[in-house]
Amino acid sequence: MSSAALSPVLKQATPVVVDHASGAWIHGTDGRDYLDFTTGIGVTSTGHCHPDVVAAAQEQCGKIIHAQYTTVMHQPLLALTEKLGDHLPAGIDSVFYANSGSEAVEAAVRLARMATGRQYIVTVQRGFHGRTVGAASLTTAGTKFSAGFGPLMAGVATTPFPDALRLKMTEAEAVDYALAEFDYLLATRVQPNEVAAILIEPFLGDGGYLALPPAYLTGLRERATEHGALLVLDEVQAGIGRTGKFWGHQHTGGLVPDVIITAKGIASGFPISAIAAPESIMAKAWPGSQGGTYGGNAVAAAAGVATLGVIEREGLVENSRVRGDELLAGLRSGLSEVQQICDIRGTGLMAAVEFGDPTANAGSPDSAEAARLAAAVQQACIDEDLLTLTCGPTGSIVRIIPALIVTAEEVATGTERFVRAVKRVVEG
Ligand SMILES: Cc1ncc(COP(=O)(O)O)c(C=O)c1O
Repeated sequence: MSSAALSPVLKQATPVVVDHASGAWIHGTDGRDYLDFTTGIGVTSTGHCHPDVVAAAQEQCGKIIHAQYTTVMHQPLLALTEKLGDHLPAGIDSVFYANSGSEAVEAAVRLARMATGRQYIVTVQRGFHGRTVGAASLTTAGTKFSAGFGPLMAGVATTPFPDALRLKMTEAEAVDYALAEFDYLLATRVQPNEVAAILIEPFLGDGGYLALPPAYLTGLRERATEHGALLVLDEVQAGIGRTGKFWGHQHTGGLVPDVIITAKGIASGFPISAIAAPESIMAKAWPGSQGGTYGGNAVAAAAGVATLGVIEREGLVENSRVRGDELLAGLRSGLSEVQQICDIRGTGLMAAVEFGDPTANAGSPDSAEAARLAAAVQQACIDEDLLTLTCGPTGSIVRIIPALIVTAEEVATGTERFVRAVKRVVEG
């Protein structure tokens, strides 16, 4: 008899083994109660085991668990489509479902290529779009996501992100620079009439918890329209209320994408993802190009319907905005004296603290010391019974991702614990 264990390559950010979880809290088998500011990487939007989501999933399990959607249709998927439609921009009225963010990204790439008859996808540097080979080929949030298993998918070109901090520019200067670089890309590498889509996150997720400046997103929208390319927004992490608006791109007033990719927060932890586009675009997908054994699973769809219902009834998009403002204010006032921090930012409940090295490398967020500090703080948080994650191209950022149901008291508790953890690390 042989024994099996999990792959040694799976890297766990905390030593926590969950016994059970509820709302914003995870109760470990070690008897400790952890305030969960990771939400399974932005997934458990309504908190852990929200009673309405649990009830919907339990009820659905008793009706039908798997009703493969190209064989028989099931009611939860129809209901989810209707409910999602209430939140999609006008004209984006056709939805295809898959299981994971990566799978949905790949579906969007297939759709963009088929709908335009062009092959290039332009992505923004530091974007994260997933781990399947196609999605990893679009991912530039870190080489660990795409190194070692090439060749990657061809037909991808990457343009710089307007990162004012690293470029040492104002935001307006960084936007001008990045849009000019985009135009150079189309003059030097990819003909405009070869671009199927510009595919971007409205807020960088794994790449650094950074908002795309509205002027940049608007500039890309104008260029996509001018060149006949689709603007595909990867809202997998920023969507479903995370940033204090239902969609991340709604921070850029009036912007209308061609395709939206969603997953994570849509079903509070059940695996389901989707792409949404105008029917006129969706109809250009080739027959047979959309499908899958598990896509749009009935239990996941029922959980999705319940999740969107909870978000609406409990005003969770607004809660995300208000609690997010409190979180940001608390972090900024508690950490204002810490010289090793070069930026504290957040929109809604997508917050980040970026470390730098004020001595060795003139405040550089890309120094080894910055990454060491971020990792040490994330670990020190665990001692405070607070769960957080790191991110960013060099790991110099701690990201804070509470559930949308988080209370003012929990935000205050989490902020206090975080500030204490930072001070312990920087004061040695
Ligand atoms: C913006 C974004 N796109 C795509 C993905 C990939 O999703 P999944 O891990 O479900 O495949 C992620 C995952 O973190 C993400 O944050």
